[in-house]
Amino acid sequence: MEVIIVPTAQDVGELAAARIADLVASNPDAVLGLATGSSPQGVYAELHRRVQAGSLSFAGVRGFALDEYVGLPLEHPESYASVITRDVVEPLGFDPSNVRVPDGRADDLDRAAQEYDEAIAQAGGIDLQILGIGANGHIGFNEPTSSFASRTRIKTLAPQTRLDNARFFDNPDQVPTHCLTQGLGTILEAREVVLVAQGAGKAAAIAAAVEGPLTALVPGSALQLHRRATVIVDEDAASGLKLADYYRYTYAHKPA
Ligand code: F6R
Repeated sequence: MEVIIVPTAQDVGELAAARIADLVASNPDAVLGLATGSSPQGVYAELHRRVQAGSLSFAGVRGFALDEYVGLPLEHPESYASVITRDVVEPLGFDPSNVRVPDGRADDLDRAAQEYDEAIAQAGGIDLQILGIGANGHIGFNEPTSSFASRTRIKTLAPQTRLDNARFFDNPDQVPTHCLTQGLGTILEAREVVLVAQGAGKAAAIAAAVEGPLTALVPGSALQLHRRATVIVDEDAASGLKLADYYRYTYAHKPA
């Protein structure tokens, strides 16, 4: 795992966006795994800036969202289908038919989940998965005690996660109780993962995921098993890391 500590939240977005832009430049029909929430906003903003400058195109890029709430109407502004359209597809100029979000409205959610994993496989797998991390260590909506082998499936959101996401809704009771999420096993199959985190509120989760024991109690620790995982954090999110100086030294001396 490569841990990169940068001074500010803006630097987090810029560095992660640079990695994605490099991938898309070399592979214009790359498959991206798309996170929602606050963490990747700076990444998408920097990618948008590059698209506007004409140096980057997502016209051929394919995308798979990480997760979706169960039961929110498609047109609800906080359904992840709406969020992905608003924050990613439209500003970055993806072809909407190239982007898929788990179907949290399906009558048969198990089947929808299974079909989602099949669609990822048919696309050739995810080249780069963008991730954020929950304060409780979740990645995707794989809440603590999720199996490291899990596939896309229905999960119950932890009360803490519903509370954390209440800021997107008029009233905390409106936050759905369930979601469909790529599993930890699904995420680990991506050829590369880039996790971004900003702010002191993520410091404990980052420390546990990066340096703590491999444990289902901290789903983000599953990334320790990934061959190509990069964690990009600002100073505040890095503040719980015991080996912060070592990560800084390693990055400063990174071979070309
Ligand atoms: C989002 C997702 C979640 C978020 C996490 C952090 O698609 O799967 O794991 O990345 O809850 O959320 P924010 O970024 O809003 O702090």
